[in-house]
Amino acid sequence: MSVEAKRRRLSPSAIRAMKGERPIVSLTAYTTPIARLLDPHVDLLLVGDSVGMVLYGMDSTVGVTMEMMIAHGQAVARGATQACLVVDLPFGSYQESKEQAFRSAVRLMKETQCSAVKLEGGEEMAETVAFLTRRGVPVLGHVGLMPQLVNTTGGYRSLGHSDAEAETIRRDAQAIDEAGAFAIVVEGTVEPVAREITAAVAAPTIGIGASPACDGQILVSDDMLGLFNDFKPRFVKHFAELAPQVSAAAGAYAEEVRARSFPGPDHTFKPRR
Ligand code: KIV
Repeated sequence: MSVEAKRRRLSPSAIRAMKGERPIVSLTAYTTPIARLLDPHVDLLLVGDSVGMVLYGMDSTVGVTMEMMIAHGQAVARGATQACLVVDLPFGSYQESKEQAFRSAVRLMKETQCSAVKLEGGEEMAETVAFLTRRGVPVLGHVGLMPQLVNTTGGYRSLGHSDAEAETIRRDAQAIDEAGAFAIVVEGTVEPVAREITAAVAAPTIGIGASPACDGQILVSDDMLGLFNDFKPRFVKHFAELAPQVSAAAGAYAEEVRARSFPGPDHTFKPRR
């Protein structure tokens, strides 16, 4: 990715300025060819640590490493020329101290050319978010359902149903907003609470399983493309049904190979003389 191409990408401050102007369209991406296809349509591409579950078959994001985020961040950077590029800080790379978070974020920015990092956490991460933003690292916050905490919270379920839960998410969003996050992902949060948070914070909110009132929306691209046909969470909409198409294509290929009808004359090289 040339410096010129990177300059053409939307900046975190341009994303922030979209609040109240137009909805922020965001998707995850993990590879160069998919990034190339998505980039013209979106404002923000997130190399999410969901890569561990989506591409590597892990059962949570906890096992995702810096090396994985760097490799996939670099791949997406090669395919993204206009969307703001954000890469997730993986579990264990930022929770220990604000200094550890800064070192990890700088490594991601230097090695992937991303413009910002995302980290999960509310009040407990506010000091870290302030430390990073004051030192040149734009941060996309992430509150509500936080998949990296699955082992302490006990699973993936929507939050904000009780008054106490709703209040915690409100306080988390407020703290990350005041700490200077340029935008905040609100995940798996009951609709009225996500709506309220969106009205209360200065940063744009980007919802996933949250509210249409959020300032933007994000989905995991493989979910949105219908590449999984075994499980569809309530908050996912399939905008395509690629799983049956992939399966049918593999079946047709297998049939032709077995019948020796592929490769045909058009797929083989003739001698030049
Ligand atoms: O890792 C990820 O893909 C995410 C999005 C779903 C917001 O955090």
